[in-house]
Amino acid sequence: MSIIHNDRGEPIIQIANEFTVIQVGYTRTGSGERLVITSPRLGFQTHLDPLQLESLTWQTPTCTRRCSTRPTDRARNSKRAPCRSIQKGLIPLGFLDGKVALVTGGGSGIGRAVVELYVQQGAKVGILEISPEKVKDLRNALPVDAVVVTEGDATSMADNERAVADVVDAFGPLTTLVCVVGVFDYFTEIPQLPKDKISEAFDQLFGVNVKSNLLSVKAALDELIENEGDIILTLSNAAFYPGGGGPLYVSSKFAVRGLVTELAYELAPKVRVNGVAPGGTITELRGIPALANEGQRLKDVPDIEGLIEGINPLGIVAQPEDHSWAYALLASRERTPAVTGTIINSDGGLGVRGMTRMAGLAP
Ligand SMILES: NC(=O)c1ccc[n+]([C@@H]2O[C@H](COP(=O)([O-])OP(=O)(O)OC[C@H]3O[C@@H](n4cnc5c(N)ncnc54)[C@H](O)[C@@H]3O)[C@@H](O)[C@H]2O)c1
Repeated sequence: MSIIHNDRGEPIIQIANEFTVIQVGYTRTGSGERLVITSPRLGFQTHLDPLQLESLTWQTPTCTRRCSTRPTDRARNSKRAPCRSIQKGLIPLGFLDGKVALVTGGGSGIGRAVVELYVQQGAKVGILEISPEKVKDLRNALPVDAVVVTEGDATSMADNERAVADVVDAFGPLTTLVCVVGVFDYFTEIPQLPKDKISEAFDQLFGVNVKSNLLSVKAALDELIENEGDIILTLSNAAFYPGGGGPLYVSSKFAVRGLVTELAYELAPKVRVNGVAPGGTITELRGIPALANEGQRLKDVPDIEGLIEGINPLGIVAQPEDHSWAYALLASRERTPAVTGTIINSDGGLGVRGMTRMAGLAP
């Protein structure tokens, strides 16, 4: 056993034998320290907060079984999800070393999972988030030396410019823009859309789901061209198929598909532009005031898990972190140098549903 020091001069306990080396150190977050366990030879790292540390000495047989459940079993029975801490462990280190990213809508759901993975993989991250509660939570939970949070509205040019300035001031040249903000129409179909609300609802939903992307891209453009960076937009199964929302949501996500195509053309060869299209995912995705469903959250929809699981061939009830590696891959120009204008469909295979039965090997 020996004591070594990391780049910041913090001590790390190193334990080695002839087969392996394990390093145990800590990192500081806004809400306290985390134990960091690293296997440098294998390139694995895991972070444990005090509660998770305590849980190691409090394992019940049920929890141990849940933690060792394989992802395929999880798909078959979503209620047996593995513990998040264990699921997040044993992931290669440093995939995004040297990247400086801005994530819009990083306060919860898919955006938050992207932020956490990017930080874990070595990126420095700025976040533009509208909810003051989520901003507070982000500042408490994430390492201050890797994350800067700007409270603001992604539909405002000034707020986007402020977020770009904040992340560049904190961490240097911006390499990556990830737009994840979004709102939903809660499947309001044309017969149910109130005549006198369509215009307002359109402006609210398209403002967040479409216009914000243009504003974020414009605010970050000089940096991204200068640094030959990457843009990743968030679409949905609704950008490809009907019924994943009403006409407002579906047409807004088709519009984002247009943005991926046009921006990838306009910004090549300097900046790559790609998208991720998640399928149904258990999150807090909100509605809009004009449709009086802004207080609704997707995860509160009755039997949402059954609904999602029942329509995709892989039987996936996606959690936000199930999409985050797609965003990491598209942020790594080193690993995907030939990819632009592309969308990763992270939806359990909605595009390959069969006519007579959903999945070939389904019982
Ligand atoms: N949850 C799903 O089933 C699903 C499926 C396909 C696509 N998506 C898309 O994924 C994206 C993320 O959604 P989610 O499900 O993680 O929901 P979420 O509500 O958990 O995440 C959206 C985040 O954006 C923030 N936000 C909303 N409007 C903002 C604004 N104007 N400025 C700044 N921040 C703002 C919210 O506060 C929230 O933190 C959205 O674009 C959504 O359309 C979600």
